[in-house]
Amino acid sequence: MIGSLQEEYIPGSYAANLSKGETSWQAPSNIALVKYWGKHQGQIPANASLSFTLSNSITKTSVSFQRKSEGHDRSFSFEFLFHGAEKKSFHPKLLTFFERVEKYLPFLRDYHLKITSENSFPHSSGIASSASGMAALASCLVDFEDALQPENKSASKPSFIARLGSGSACRSIEGPVVHWGKHPELPGSSDLVGTAYTGDVHPVFRSYRDTILIVEEGVKAVSSSEGHRLMDGHPFAEKRFDQAAKNLAALLPILASGDLSAFSELVELEALSLHAMMMTSTQSYLLMQPNTLEVINRVRQFRTQTGNPLCFTLDAGANVHLLYPAAEEEIILQFIKSELIGYCQDGAYICDQVGTGASKIR
Ligand code: PMV
Repeated sequence: MIGSLQEEYIPGSYAANLSKGETSWQAPSNIALVKYWGKHQGQIPANASLSFTLSNSITKTSVSFQRKSEGHDRSFSFEFLFHGAEKKSFHPKLLTFFERVEKYLPFLRDYHLKITSENSFPHSSGIASSASGMAALASCLVDFEDALQPENKSASKPSFIARLGSGSACRSIEGPVVHWGKHPELPGSSDLVGTAYTGDVHPVFRSYRDTILIVEEGVKAVSSSEGHRLMDGHPFAEKRFDQAAKNLAALLPILASGDLSAFSELVELEALSLHAMMMTSTQSYLLMQPNTLEVINRVRQFRTQTGNPLCFTLDAGANVHLLYPAAEEEIILQFIKSELIGYCQDGAYICDQVGTGASKIR
């Protein structure tokens, strides 16, 4: 039920009583092919989404846990260091996250947490770090809980907890293709967790490239929570949720067959539909920049002229993700350098590719 307690993720009493512990995880970002935009209370998506997990755009997070003394103050106690520097500005977001997850991780109030985190990509790059950041933090918290109750591990709990931090983060725990949200053609799909897609995936997609052109650095004009809220009462919301469900159903045979021309068409339609929702909401946002459109036009011209399957997708921002098969890498990087780099801020782009998900740092 929407917004209700998810009993299966509430632990019983902990078997172990650890005075301290430390764990480190890394988690990648992901890029949605079918987009999630609009949610219900309790981080429940309005439509199912499906993404490629990435491998180079990652967050590495370590959490050290120190048990508070007997009779301690019950408030959450934590420090957060980002690239070695104390970041108080992240505290409100972390506090909201801890409040949301404490029913599922009741040990949290008994420990002082020192969280240290760093991203492999520049903070100013305009790449959303919430997916990789929340996936890495959730992995650390659940890993520590596993040490408190070794008999009761739940494989899907990191994704469940990550979702409560940032919806799309639940798709960053596994790879290479992950879906989230109930969908009739995805058996076992759930609104609560991201699930690795077990249907056929053509080998071409397992090493697909995502080169992220940094058209605009800096923070987003609209936060994703605000963006999702704008779908409440949006005049096209129901049509959009239907469209997303149909696009997801249509994508599954494309993933199996490796039909790259159908893939490009569908993925671009999804990206532009996401932006169409933003442009037509009240309040309206135009997040594409003139250089975003220049890149899109050139990518489409290039595809028509060369027959190369290169396509684009977009997040809720101006940057452009270029998706293409590994075999085309040399040609595409050459195309970027000769024709697209001028549209990137300071010539910046990030080379990434499909990956496998979060992993423990030993
Ligand atoms: O996870 P959030 O709340 O930051 O929302 C992400 C929304 C998009 O990135 C635009 C789409 C998606 O499915 O990842």
